[in-house]
Amino acid sequence: MFQTLDDLAPDQRLLVRLDLNAPIEDGRAQDHRRFERHADTVQELVDDGHAVVLMAHQGRPGRDTFVSLESHADVLASHLDRAVSFVDDVYGDDALSAIDDTERGDVLLLENVRFLEDEELGDRSPEDHARSEFVQTLAPEFDAYVNDAYSAAHRAHASIVGFPQAMDAYAGRVMVDEYEYNTSIERRDFDGKVTMALGGTKAEDVIAAMDHLDETVDQFLLGGVVGELFLRSAGYPVGYDLPDGTGLYDDNYEKNEAIIERVLDEYGDRIALPEDMAYEDESGDRAEHDVDDIDEKSVSYMDVGHGTVETYAPHIEESEAVLVKGALGVFEDERFNYGTIEVLRAVADSDCFSVVGGGDTSRTVTMYDLGEENFDHLSIAGGAYLRALTGEPLAAVEALRQE
Ligand code: 3PG
Repeated sequence: MFQTLDDLAPDQRLLVRLDLNAPIEDGRAQDHRRFERHADTVQELVDDGHAVVLMAHQGRPGRDTFVSLESHADVLASHLDRAVSFVDDVYGDDALSAIDDTERGDVLLLENVRFLEDEELGDRSPEDHARSEFVQTLAPEFDAYVNDAYSAAHRAHASIVGFPQAMDAYAGRVMVDEYEYNTSIERRDFDGKVTMALGGTKAEDVIAAMDHLDETVDQFLLGGVVGELFLRSAGYPVGYDLPDGTGLYDDNYEKNEAIIERVLDEYGDRIALPEDMAYEDESGDRAEHDVDDIDEKSVSYMDVGHGTVETYAPHIEESEAVLVKGALGVFEDERFNYGTIEVLRAVADSDCFSVVGGGDTSRTVTMYDLGEENFDHLSIAGGAYLRALTGEPLAAVEALRQE
């Protein structure tokens, strides 16, 4: 259904879309499963004698992860047998001259495509995206376009849907592999209970998927931002922004309130919400309290508590399949990794069919030695993996489809 790398003519100058969206610390990209997976595609392309120019995004406008891709070039190079050069431009004179200088076996990374206004105009059709200055300027510089960014496949942005309209387009190895795996889960029938643990910070993706997953999933276990938003809808005084907080709650709640209410109303008996929450006390230690004891939100919640894990683990133990998307807490901080690790450990210890989605969440498995072999699939995709489970089409897949 796709043209793949097996169909590429040799010695081409290629424009390749990756998803290098990564956790950022002190303005620099942290290594991530996505780098390792995409590096295999890039290495294969340079080994085959192509000149490779990479496009990717980082963060979203307004968030502190919305930074340059300069540090990403080094992280990617650490997984390759050669350097990755970087140009802080996408389609201006500096980018065009750097592209012109690339030779067989070279790898060049362009600047964050989300710095361009043309990239994200989501209400544009693929044909309109193809007419943008961005696509019209870059496309003639290349022989072909490769999209390996399965984890951004649900975004109908110019770098994803515009170029395939204007150029010969191919699916990269990660794109094909993740597409096949995630589609096969959506089609798979399980006789026993299917449980899904959902967390992370991208609450709108999770909530939109929950609106369509009631036929696939028997039991939801919620944590992270989405857990708090559901608690808010259920009448608890959490899920609000604090004056000095992250701003992840009020806006998301207002936008998604109707869906949350509908989902709770229609199948709330299948949705487990956190019973207790962890926060940083005055001496900087982890403390927990029951959600029933909260009169007003005055601290940031960083994890689900021990009582919640005690309730969630048996659901996992009795399931035939467990799907995980998003961390239940701030797992990078050792004080607040308990909920995420213990839920993943329960999955690892059970015989269930298991898939962990989300670049960050799948990183937890390696970070805390939970054993990759204990999981059926570690997907580097988050939102796209969720979207695939709902059976909804993915913009990138539609754009590359050859039928
Ligand atoms: C992801 O991290 O899930 C992808 O890179 C998409 O990022 P986005 O949710 O900011 O579009």
